[in-house]
Amino acid sequence: MGRSVAGDRNEQERAYALLALGDELIHARALQIAAELRIADLLASRPRPCQDLAEHTETDPEALYRMMRLLASRGLFHESGTGVFELTPMGDPLRSDHPASVRSVLALTGAVAPLVLGGAHHSLRTGEATFPQVTGDPIYAHMARHPEQGRLFDEAMRDLTRLVAPAVLDAYDFTGAPHIIDVGGGSGALISAILRREPAASGVVLEDPRVVDSALDEIREEGVADRCSAVGGDFFREVPAGGDLYLMKWVLHNWSDERVTDILRNCRRAMREDSRLLIIESVLPSGDDAHPGKAMDLAMLVLLGGRERTEEQFGELLAGAGLRLERVVPTRSPHSVVEASPR
Ligand SMILES: C[S@@+](CC[C@H](N)C(=O)[O-])C[C@H]1O[C@@H](n2cnc3c(N)ncnc32)[C@H](O)[C@@H]1O
Repeated sequence: MGRSVAGDRNEQERAYALLALGDELIHARALQIAAELRIADLLASRPRPCQDLAEHTETDPEALYRMMRLLASRGLFHESGTGVFELTPMGDPLRSDHPASVRSVLALTGAVAPLVLGGAHHSLRTGEATFPQVTGDPIYAHMARHPEQGRLFDEAMRDLTRLVAPAVLDAYDFTGAPHIIDVGGGSGALISAILRREPAASGVVLEDPRVVDSALDEIREEGVADRCSAVGGDFFREVPAGGDLYLMKWVLHNWSDERVTDILRNCRRAMREDSRLLIIESVLPSGDDAHPGKAMDLAMLVLLGGRERTEEQFGELLAGAGLRLERVVPTRSPHSVVEASPR
């Protein structure tokens, strides 16, 4: 039977849409390299010819032009004269000094994604992380062994947290929690933002000893050092007692259900009956709905053997650790606040 021309056209459009989706990898890689090369910093004050950009970034001018042309086609830059590029408002957060900078995050993705995505079949076959297969170390041991990458990782977490903190603070009322413990609190960006909003509260960051000094720097920079400290420790062994509120942002998604249960049990042991625990993460919608957490879920699988979770999955894990899911508070970011209390 002959096929209709209209039918053919629809099929072709769908086929081209799939090819375009496949090509997103090339666009993403160009974006990551632009972040690594700090192209937006070079364009911050004025447009520049590609030749000039190439000299500063030690790249080939013609090759760099082709990459800039691709990114200009996505609106990040504008070719304002032949071979001359300027930064657009859309590309502006690629600057490292932008208040909502994503430069370090994209540079980190650029450093890590090429390592693991090539071998991602390992994760699909086994359900385990690919990262240790490729590098020989789990990711946090790798960061400790490669201080340069460790610093980039911490900077990226700090910048992402600075981006999301206003949405969390607007969605959740932190008043009435005099002492707050941020478990795996990274650079201290979240606790600092909360303490700036709540001048009577005090806080502690529990972190891997590798990260404590940069957390202390951030706490000092944010002007809350008189009310906040950072201590080295291991949340698989012990979580400090004495908190009215415990925070865990982007920690649990790093780990398997078994490891999450260990962390939650240590939190429960540290909590009083009236303490609360806040898990700040994506809460995955069921069904086909799009959500940034669905990509992060695969990233967590290949990097750490971790996962993003649904509300039901959070509820089950909390119950297994003697905690009860009280409510899920959405924020205007892709992340929600999951509030839990002792059962
Ligand atoms: C994905 S980062 C999130 C950091 C921070 N909560 C944020 O949202 O910016 C996870 C953090 O857990 C810390 N971490 C990993 N294993 C740990 C352990 N066993 N004890 C304490 N912290 C740990 C890492 O150093 C890292 O800073």
